Amino acid sequence: MNKTRQRDLGTPASPAEERVQIEIDGLPATVNAGTSILRAARESGVDIPKLCATDSVKPFGSCRLCLVEIEGRKGYPASCTTPVEAGMKIRTQTEALSTLRRNVMELYISDHPLDCLTCAANGDCELQDMAGAVGLRDVRYGYDGENHLDAPVDASNPYFQFDTSKCIVCSRCVRACDEVQGTFALTIEGRGFNSRVSAGISEDFLDSECVSCGACVQACPTATLTEKSIVDHGQPDHAVVTTCAYCGVGCSFQAEMKGDQVVRMTPYKDGEANHGHSCVKGRFAWGYASHRDRVMKPMIRDNTSDPWREVEWEEAIQYTADRFKAIQEEYGRKSIGGITSSRCTNEEVYVVQKLVRTAMGNNNVDTCARVCHSPTGYGLNTTLGTSAGTQPFDSVMDADVIVVIGANPTAGHPVFASQMKQRVREGAELIVVDPREIGLVRSPHIEAAHHLNLLPGTNVPIVNALAHVIVSEGLADEAYVKERCDLESWESWKAMILRPENSPEEVAKVSGVDAEKIRAAARLFGNARNGAIYYGLGVTEHSQGSTMVMGMANLAMATGNIGRSGVGVNPLRGQNNVQGACDMGSFPHELAGYRHISGEEVRTQFEQHWGVTIDPEPGFRIPNMFDAACAGEFKGMYIQGEDVAQSDPDTHHVEAALSNMDCIVVQDLFLNETAKFAHVFLPGTSFLEKNGTFINAERRINRVRKVMEPQQGKDEWLITQELAQAMGYNMNYASAAGIMDEIAELTPTFKNVSFDFLDKVGSVQWPCNDDAPMGTPIMHIDQFVRGKGLFVETEYVPTEERTNRKFPLLLTTGRILSQYNVGAQTRRTDNNVWYGEDLLEVHPSDAEMRGIRDGEMVALASRKGDITLRAKITTRVKPGVVYTTFHNPETGANVVTTEYADWATDCPEYKVTAVQIAPASRRSEWQEGFDARAKEQGRIERPVD
Ligand code: SF4
Ligand code: SF4
Ligand code: SF4
Ligand code: FES
Repeated sequence: MNKTRQRDLGTPASPAEERVQIEIDGLPATVNAGTSILRAARESGVDIPKLCATDSVKPFGSCRLCLVEIEGRKGYPASCTTPVEAGMKIRTQTEALSTLRRNVMELYISDHPLDCLTCAANGDCELQDMAGAVGLRDVRYGYDGENHLDAPVDASNPYFQFDTSKCIVCSRCVRACDEVQGTFALTIEGRGFNSRVSAGISEDFLDSECVSCGACVQACPTATLTEKSIVDHGQPDHAVVTTCAYCGVGCSFQAEMKGDQVVRMTPYKDGEANHGHSCVKGRFAWGYASHRDRVMKPMIRDNTSDPWREVEWEEAIQYTADRFKAIQEEYGRKSIGGITSSRCTNEEVYVVQKLVRTAMGNNNVDTCARVCHSPTGYGLNTTLGTSAGTQPFDSVMDADVIVVIGANPTAGHPVFASQMKQRVREGAELIVVDPREIGLVRSPHIEAAHHLNLLPGTNVPIVNALAHVIVSEGLADEAYVKERCDLESWESWKAMILRPENSPEEVAKVSGVDAEKIRAAARLFGNARNGAIYYGLGVTEHSQGSTMVMGMANLAMATGNIGRSGVGVNPLRGQNNVQGACDMGSFPHELAGYRHISGEEVRTQFEQHWGVTIDPEPGFRIPNMFDAACAGEFKGMYIQGEDVAQSDPDTHHVEAALSNMDCIVVQDLFLNETAKFAHVFLPGTSFLEKNGTFINAERRINRVRKVMEPQQGKDEWLITQELAQAMGYNMNYASAAGIMDEIAELTPTFKNVSFDFLDKVGSVQWPCNDDAPMGTPIMHIDQFVRGKGLFVETEYVPTEERTNRKFPLLLTTGRILSQYNVGAQTRRTDNNVWYGEDLLEVHPSDAEMRGIRDGEMVALASRKGDITLRAKITTRVKPGVVYTTFHNPETGANVVTTEYADWATDCPEYKVTAVQIAPASRRSEWQEGFDARAKEQGRIERPVD
């Protein structure tokens, strides 16, 4: 059997707590009541043969290979569909069973190609294993009867193929697509001999509803559904468990290796965030790590108009240190700073903020959370006392009413979306608050009870109106509030929320959502036994982002929905380690663990450990850095794994700031957009080359393990360490594990965390310390971290960005499933077959009014700038609203976004821009300039050997 195959217990675990005693082949066993005999046997080390059963889906009982005998019962029941009963005596190996199983296998094999030796699944095929297990030696019927051996191969999906000739019609794939993924893309069509798996009526996989999550491939026991990487490279010989480097779900994967080459990523069953599921990005889109665009040598240049010059590490690091020191000498200590990356490990992030606070001697450090979830930190900390979500993902399985606000989980957090959909199929009600009709509003077997399709920028009035109905109709949980919350704040909040402007009728006028719809949604949530709120960047990236986060916390507290399973306020974090980057002290006003830099006690602790004096004044946030750069006061930046030139709003302003600096250092895998303004390029490592930890949206600290050595020759934390040393600060770690040890020593919420501990327990959710040695899945159980929950008045202050006759439409932005963030990784994979360019979604009425046709180019103009992109006419957006993504640098979506930002945190208002659209025949001026700059960027001088 394949060495990397994960153990399959045959059927899902029984949730029952009661234990029952049984006997299997004469030996006693104790299992959970309701466990299938197949699983009970496997848990006890007895592998009953099976084909149609697998532990990720419900048993089906079609192959008849898992038959057993039960004392006192007639016949041979299928063990996968028969639950154990106390005292049951089961026999799994008898002469009669052997004969029956051999007969079954004989039929399967008579219609199966006998090309095992050359088959891609050779050694990893359950059919092959079962033929061996039942002792099949010959097929009496011969191989010449009617069969499917010439059936065609569907190779349309870029990552896996479907070879019908090898299909045994066990329907594991169909059930995986239905039950695990929830897409319902596959069916078994035809009957009897003619039955076959189909991805749609006369459709191949690529054109079907399939979202390429890989669940069917994982479930398939034969070579029918096989990864193309396995077809090309053969079976793996070892595997390393690590964590996906895309989104904040933080799925665990087995990186399956052949020598030092990754041949497959399979979702890890024991991964506590994903339970063996995956999405197209983590499962298949890892080829970017070895893409030809990857930069492998450090490069420097005196001026951005010069070509890049490849140099050795030592020279690049010394050059950087010299330039940074020269800037500080001329412009002062605070004239330089750094940005940490949410894609890097905690250990890599921690050393960058430490470099800024020690070697640079200031607090000018910020992170990309500034442009995504900084309002989450502010809002949840203010109301509840912790800058993080309250629940584990599994908590959703106990929710009765789920509210999704400003998030598109099926695109942005697909594995969690599958779990959420599973709960909705079980009966939970769903309320979606989003300007667009996102996938969750309506999909197979899913129908949101309410879709509040508000106008962009009106989240706060909507949440206030929901609270208004709940309070005015007596649906608030007064007893909970009395016991758990600050009553003075409750009274003043209540008075505010009951004001007429917060009534659904008034809010309907600003939000465009029918008052009755708001009332109905509020009643549904207010009456829920367990109501859970999930939200994303559609909440935070507004000028009222922090207000809205507090509005949701108010709503959850008022209804008693915090502090147990099935409830809570849960940010769906965008990038893989955005939670960790915030936890690690990446903000200019906080040290690790969210402790304010002005706190003397905390500062002293770090000062003693680091041997420096720490500036008690907060440093610059990213937008302050850009403003100061434009003013000629901020001159140097060390940017770890972030592409600010593409991702940050108001591109013209960002480009002006970057152009005005004397030394920009970019540490990344690729020459990204920011690197066009850089003087030093330090090649980074992919997640496959790192040792460390990521923290997902549920505060789960997951291990990231090196499966290969850094391809550019140096660990990323070591690059930062050597830069600190070259600048005169003696940073001195021997390993990433040593960095985590220091984090744990200096951060109370991480006190018990170490690589050894994580390797032992798998993963843990912070706080993890002496009070909670095995971590804290659910926060605020008996009381809020801040003591009493604080209600904060959430008055609606509309954004300054307004529509008018010149810019009558509202642009909002978001993501697509197959691409990720600025696309640096996914654009360098076959994911482009699904979404190769950013499209502008336009409602048919807006399109018609302007003579815009589907698929044609349109100019999108705002007060800030203009770009051209292709139109997609759709009713997913309502009239007056247009929508696009920002995955492709050549589109330049942020050329049009504005400088408006959240009042508390400066998180940019990406979600609301007043725009106009018109048919276009050419690219915009900025886009034409982009092409010229891209050509320039490619100029690299390499030393002659
Ligand atoms: S494709 Fe695989 S999983 Fe699906 S029915 Fe065929 S053999 Fe079973
Ligand atoms: S890859 Fe996922 S979505 Fe596509 S058919 Fe398989 S299980 Fe369904
Ligand atoms: S859901 Fe997120 S973490 Fe999981 S595989 Fe997909 S991108 Fe990776
Ligand atoms: S494994 Fe039980 S009937 Fe197929």
